[in-house]
Amino acid sequence: MARCAAFIFLLSFGVVSHLSHGIEVQVKNEDKLCLYANLTVSFSVTYEVAVNKKKTVSFGLPTSALSNESKCDKTSSVLKLSFADGHSWSVTFSLKDKSYQADAITFVYNLNDSNVFPDSSSKDTVTVKAKPDIKDVGVNMCYLCKSKDTIIASPQANMTLSDVLIQAFVINGTKSKNQTVCPADKPAPTTPTPTTVAPTTNATTVAPTTNATTVAPTTNATTVAPTTNTTTVAPATNATTAAPPTTPTPTLPTPTVGNYSIKHDANSTACLLANFGLRIGFTQNKKYQEVNFDPATEVSGSCGVDNSELTLVSNNITVSLSFYNDTKKFRLHALNVTINTSSGVFAQSSTNLSLWEAAVGSSYMCNKEQNFTITDLLSIYTFSLHVQPFGVKKGLYSTAEECLTDEESYLVPIAVGVALLVLILIVLLAYFIGRKRNMASGYQSF
Ligand SMILES: *[C@@H]1O[C@H](CO)[C@@H](O)[C@H](O)[C@H]1NC(C)=O
Ligand SMILES: *[C@@H]1O[C@H](CO)[C@@H](O)[C@H](O)[C@H]1NC(C)=O
Ligand SMILES: *[C@@H]1O[C@H](CO)[C@@H](O)[C@H](O)[C@H]1NC(C)=O
Ligand SMILES: *[C@@H]1O[C@H](CO)[C@@H](O)[C@H](O)[C@H]1NC(C)=O
Ligand SMILES: *[C@@H]1O[C@H](CO)[C@@H](O)[C@H](O)[C@H]1NC(C)=O
Ligand SMILES: *[C@@H]1O[C@H](CO)[C@@H](O)[C@H](O)[C@H]1NC(C)=O
Ligand SMILES: *[C@@H]1O[C@H](CO)[C@@H](O)[C@H](O)[C@H]1NC(C)=O
Ligand SMILES: *[C@@H]1O[C@H](CO)[C@@H](O)[C@H](O)[C@H]1NC(C)=O
Repeated sequence: MARCAAFIFLLSFGVVSHLSHGIEVQVKNEDKLCLYANLTVSFSVTYEVAVNKKKTVSFGLPTSALSNESKCDKTSSVLKLSFADGHSWSVTFSLKDKSYQADAITFVYNLNDSNVFPDSSSKDTVTVKAKPDIKDVGVNMCYLCKSKDTIIASPQANMTLSDVLIQAFVINGTKSKNQTVCPADKPAPTTPTPTTVAPTTNATTVAPTTNATTVAPTTNATTVAPTTNTTTVAPATNATTAAPPTTPTPTLPTPTVGNYSIKHDANSTACLLANFGLRIGFTQNKKYQEVNFDPATEVSGSCGVDNSELTLVSNNITVSLSFYNDTKKFRLHALNVTINTSSGVFAQSSTNLSLWEAAVGSSYMCNKEQNFTITDLLSIYTFSLHVQPFGVKKGLYSTAEECLTDEESYLVPIAVGVALLVLILIVLLAYFIGRKRNMASGYQSF
């Protein structure tokens, strides 16, 4: 009996420690309430326990988290919750004109905390940032969002917010009764939004993630400084727009080419090289849109004998490329794209591709714009593409095998022309030889 009780106790404890509960926070400024929050946050983090061995843990923001580092100002406020052994979760808000928004979420986790991250091979403290989708909240209003919102902060960490009630700028020390409800909570798309001013969709920009975690050695060879304002995210929600959704996607500028490389370890030369500009076409909620992928601010990956990987993170987009070496040739065989848009997470992948093929020991190059349909909902456009996922020597590209479109347009017509010319010459030659012979034999044919 006692054993059974102990078992149940342990079981419930185990469950409880993984479930997340709402936490209520009241931040005061000179004894007056200035920021109010009541929300549930749960985290999912993947970390390395041994070489090429990973573990994923989930845990909630505990109710015991401390909020003493939170603060409020006239136009900016910070909700910071610290918990356990060196972890924290914070959100910064800013007030402008008649509304406020959340600017950034910062999640700091300490891999050295073995209660949360058992057997972690890294002891680092990792900081990841993301852009939350909390905006256009009226100045004296609470933001209410019961729906779950999963925010992917990095390939290794994501967090899910739910039952969120926040007032980041409390006026006169009393929490407002008026609420701005998030789009996800609104049942019918026809309900007019009484409170929110129809937002002119801004480019959602995620603050560049402080590079910290990574599976294998990460080399950030991005030479182009992250130009954050080039991301053009096409239109967002369908609920507020009155016009029929026939507006064509605006023509985007050519994406900036990113230069990426992966090393085996800190002081070896690159074992994987990739340069390209990338545009992504995707269909979300039946709406097709295109975005340019800015040069990644977070680059990770690995080089193997028959499989090499490259993961790129830029703003709210994560792209994973996986290359396969079949001993004679290599090719891009898997692709994962995850995009955090204002209407949710878009994720598509394919694992049986045969793209960018070239002989092992050489590189694949395609300067022209190319488009590839990955799935029904996803296509990619590449610009100035050059990759070598295997057999890189001295950190430099080997001879390039160019894509057909580049070669075809120049070489194939020339080759065909030359072949035709040779054929005509042979025919002519044969004719003259035949004729000469006939003449020499004195018009025997008659
Ligand atoms: C992110 O969240 C999903 C569930 O929504 C989970 O399955 C996945 O493992 C998480 N990824 C990471 C890297 O934690
Ligand atoms: C809050 O709601 C009340 C009643 O609906 C309204 O009179 C008041 O103007 C609202 N306040 C704000 C800040 O919108
Ligand atoms: C609007 O988008 C939501 C998902 O965000 C979808 O469930 C809904 O069906 C869409 N409404 C219309 C009218 O397309
Ligand atoms: C290689 O890295 C180690 C540390 O990992 C360092 O001590 C050593 O100096 C490096 N060697 C060179 C040649 O840079
Ligand atoms: C792509 O995502 C799926 C899950 O959505 C995962 O199982 C797979 O390992 C990912 N592939 C790459 C190449 O990252
Ligand atoms: C990839 O797999 C899907 C389904 O698994 C299949 O429909 C598709 O034809 C495959 N594509 C190739 C190029 O093999
Ligand atoms: C991709 O290329 C094909 C062939 O050039 C073209 O027909 C198609 O419209 C392109 N896709 C998009 C989305 O532009
Ligand atoms: C490609 O794979 C073959 C067989 O797995 C291996 O022998 C070869 O070394 C690999 N090539 C490179 C460049 O890694």
